[in-house]
Amino acid sequence: MPPIDLSQLHLGQVSVDMIVPLRHRMLRQNLPLESARFPGDDAAATLHFAASDCGIPVCCLTLMAAEWEGRDAWQLRGMATAAEYHGQGVGRRLFAYAFSEARRRNVDWPMWCNARVSAIGFYQRVGWGVVSDEFEIPLAGPHVKMVYRGE
Ligand SMILES: CC(C)(COP(=O)(O)OP(=O)(O)OC[C@H]1O[C@@H](n2cnc3c(N)ncnc32)[C@H](O)[C@@H]1OP(=O)(O)O)[C@@H](O)C(=O)NCCC(=O)NCCS
Repeated sequence: MPPIDLSQLHLGQVSVDMIVPLRHRMLRQNLPLESARFPGDDAAATLHFAASDCGIPVCCLTLMAAEWEGRDAWQLRGMATAAEYHGQGVGRRLFAYAFSEARRRNVDWPMWCNARVSAIGFYQRVGWGVVSDEFEIPLAGPHVKMVYRGE
């Protein structure tokens, strides 16, 4: 596939129903569709974001209110870019967009995530640091805890 024109992508807040198929394809392959719905998806504070190409989400992420070290924080969940769009800056762009939206709401909340070991490099490239040893999440494989430090 030729490089995509990032300016043609629309970034915005979406409903969880819009992104469940992409989550399922990229994060819960070979599991029931319902496995791509997470506890907290429908909580009032939860924010779902997508980068869409012609109305179809090609990258998604979710921010949930979840404590970090005893204080209010955002947990990043369900970060995924459609395979044919990998490595073209879509994930970086959507994360930057979501981060600025999160800051507008709660300026001082830290941000953390459970990152797949295979995605650590991505998070590091966009400003995150590893803060734990490796641990296993059932059905999702080896992970580490990471926190956003800023680019
Ligand atoms: C991880 C993922 C979301 C990255 O999305 P993406 O749109 O391909 O990322 P970008 O193109 O914006 O990459 C930003 C930078 O990270 C690098 N990068 C992307 N994925 C990487 C990876 N898995 N390992 C190391 N570096 C990676 C890119 O090369 C780019 O580097 P640059 O700063 O030199 O330009 C995507 O690969 C994906 O969906 N993977 C499968 C699902 C998954 O594992 N999600 C994470 C769950 S915790």
